[in-house]
Amino acid sequence: MKMIFAIVRPEKLKDVTTVLDSKGFSSLTEMSVRGRGKQRGIHIGNMIYDKLPKEMVIIVCQNKDYEEIIKIVIETAQTGNIGDGKIFVVDVGEEYTIRTGEKSKEDV
Ligand SMILES: Nc1ncnc2c1ncn2[C@@H]1O[C@H](COP(=O)(O)OP(=O)(O)OP(=O)(O)O)[C@@H](O)[C@H]1O
Ligand SMILES: [Mg+2]
Repeated sequence: MKMIFAIVRPEKLKDVTTVLDSKGFSSLTEMSVRGRGKQRGIHIGNMIYDKLPKEMVIIVCQNKDYEEIIKIVIETAQTGNIGDGKIFVVDVGEEYTIRTGEKSKEDV
């Protein structure tokens, strides 16, 4: 399994989650976050806004699906301007459903 952390512009969150849902990826976690990328925020004269608001969508998925999910996020959240966001992917070892106590089956 993979865990995808997609950090996107707040105004893109609804589109991203709606398209993911329409393609069969309905389970996700959303978080409002603040951060900065390589431009270190926005600098206007002496003012520095170095923690800009973004939305983070976290999706745990089967290995076979993660490239499709990344493609969906990029196609949906991209404007081509700086600050469009980032996607980070990590391997996930185990997943449990609290309701049943079951450990999810892993793919390869
Ligand atoms: N290396 C990083 N580690 C953790 N979070 C990051 C990292 N880079 C960016 N982020 C997060 O992603 C958000 C958006 O980053 P941003 O889109 O500005 O990335 P960038 O690499 O500067 O790309 P661009 O040049 O397109 O602006 C940041 O506000 C921050 O929350
Ligand atoms: Mg940036």
